[in-house]
Amino acid sequence: MSEKILVCTAWPYANGDPHIGHLAGSYIPPDIFARYHRLVGNQVLMVSGSDTHGTPITVRADAEGVSPREVFERFHLRFLETWQKIGISYDLFTHTDTENHHRVSQDIFLACLRNGYLYKEVQNQLYSESEGRFLPDRYVEGTCPHCGYSGARGDQCDNCGKLLDATELINPRSRIDGSTPVVRQTEHFFFDLPKLKDRLWAYLNEGKEHWRPNVINFSRSYLKEGLRGRPITRDIEWGIPVPVPGYEHKRIYVWFEAVIGYLSASIEWAHNIGQPEKWKEWWYDPAAKTYYFMGKDNIPFHTIIWPAELMATERLYDDNPNHRLNLPHDVPANEYLNMESQKLSKSRNWAIWAPDLLSRYDPDPVRYYLTAIAPETRDTDFTWADFVRRNNDELVATWGNLANRVLSFAYRNFDGRVPLPATMDGVDCEMLARSEAGFQTVGDLYAAVKLKAALEEAMTIARAANVYLDQKAPWFQIKSNLQAAATTVYVMLRVIDNLKILLAPVLPFTSQRLHEMLGYEGQLFGRQYTQIFEETTRAHIALCYDNTQAMGKWQPSQLSPGQALREPAPLFKKLDDDTAEKELARLLGG
Ligand code: MF3
Ligand code: ZN
Repeated sequence: MSEKILVCTAWPYANGDPHIGHLAGSYIPPDIFARYHRLVGNQVLMVSGSDTHGTPITVRADAEGVSPREVFERFHLRFLETWQKIGISYDLFTHTDTENHHRVSQDIFLACLRNGYLYKEVQNQLYSESEGRFLPDRYVEGTCPHCGYSGARGDQCDNCGKLLDATELINPRSRIDGSTPVVRQTEHFFFDLPKLKDRLWAYLNEGKEHWRPNVINFSRSYLKEGLRGRPITRDIEWGIPVPVPGYEHKRIYVWFEAVIGYLSASIEWAHNIGQPEKWKEWWYDPAAKTYYFMGKDNIPFHTIIWPAELMATERLYDDNPNHRLNLPHDVPANEYLNMESQKLSKSRNWAIWAPDLLSRYDPDPVRYYLTAIAPETRDTDFTWADFVRRNNDELVATWGNLANRVLSFAYRNFDGRVPLPATMDGVDCEMLARSEAGFQTVGDLYAAVKLKAALEEAMTIARAANVYLDQKAPWFQIKSNLQAAATTVYVMLRVIDNLKILLAPVLPFTSQRLHEMLGYEGQLFGRQYTQIFEETTRAHIALCYDNTQAMGKWQPSQLSPGQALREPAPLFKKLDDDTAEKELARLLGG
């Protein structure tokens, strides 16, 4: 039976390009997962967008002397380009400054208010006397009250991961001019998290066996330490207006509304395809499964805050008691990717930025390497030497050459067609069965979001196929026994046809090329394209995905003898021995 799978990825702040850590932690994993489910025939909806509000955007705008809109529109466009180049197949990648998102966020705010989960309170806030305004959390730095880290930001401590209120910081200082802010009073709406504590505790303790240990442990201990009401409005100009009289000069806190993007983007997508009710299939059907991908710093927002918002949002658009918004089914958050043994850092420019990387390397080798070293359960290390080694020894030698050897041999010796096999022996049958079993073994791993293990299992099959091919040696067989050679080649073509699909979620571009060399027509996956959407007061551009022509199927090869092959060409490029050296020099030399 076809399942409904919602694939959500954290909404990147549109204030800079993504780097390899973002690709490995937040974008490539959900794409692999979504592609796998599409091949299986499940109904996938994959959404996200640019996070356009919040201080990360205004800090950059201030620094450049331009408007926040100018900043987010520039980087939003760059995101769209990067996702297309590396093939992150969002059904919709929109942003949070659409009319739709503003409306849905305000609707949720009001639903929470109606349902009694918001209250007003006069709050102490840090105020900059030199600037004459309240300072957003991110404009303040100080010492973390939990772990003593001296560089904690006003919203979160990067050292211990705890969410903070800027007023909790010890020795706060303004990041704009270094001055010491003063505490002033201001009235805000608070989200009554303590009221939801029991429901959150029950949620985090029901059927969470499939959650990654680090994610569930972090979330439970977060809850155990006690919840306090959190202010969800701010004294700023850039953001979504608070839909309550008297609050005209305040805005909804970015984290409260950004997570709402998952829902608003689903609604926008349904509207765009002309079936405005369709989003409900993923949000109201309790059998639908919702997955949220992100780096570990985003965990509390997705395992506590967003579930709490969903719980507080009863009776959003109607009084139907069955219309309860689905809580996250899984939050496969990733640990961090380091580079050459050091933490990635934007400020120290210790990173490889996606547009730069993709200007020099093909998307599939990047996807392959970042999956092979995915930080699924612990921090891992990107090194150029390892990238080159894995590209050359694994992707090229084990997989690319295997496919190329078989295709070239078949193309040259069997008239460019899939040969007719004679009777298969035990070794042939075993090899075929081994590759067909991959649909179960590799598939189970993809479905369990063990993507690195899924890739390893597929590569193990490719290694077995190399052993089989060398043992059978059709280049010798053909001299004495044409039928035996034909059988080997036929078995191998089916094996690489199987591997093509098993690897397609990770290697969609080269699997498509292989698909064509094997003589098939059509696309394994759908088509990505950008589209401009007009709203009453503004237009926005989004990335869309059309799956209607996709032909890829998660099922063993049915390759028919006689099928005409297309002229083969290598799937991957071997990288020169000095690649790592050159890249390191580029990294260090700037
Ligand atoms: N913009 C945030 C970040 O880059 C992530 C927001 S995820 C969302 O860390 F769920 F809030 F949208
Ligand atoms: Zn801390």
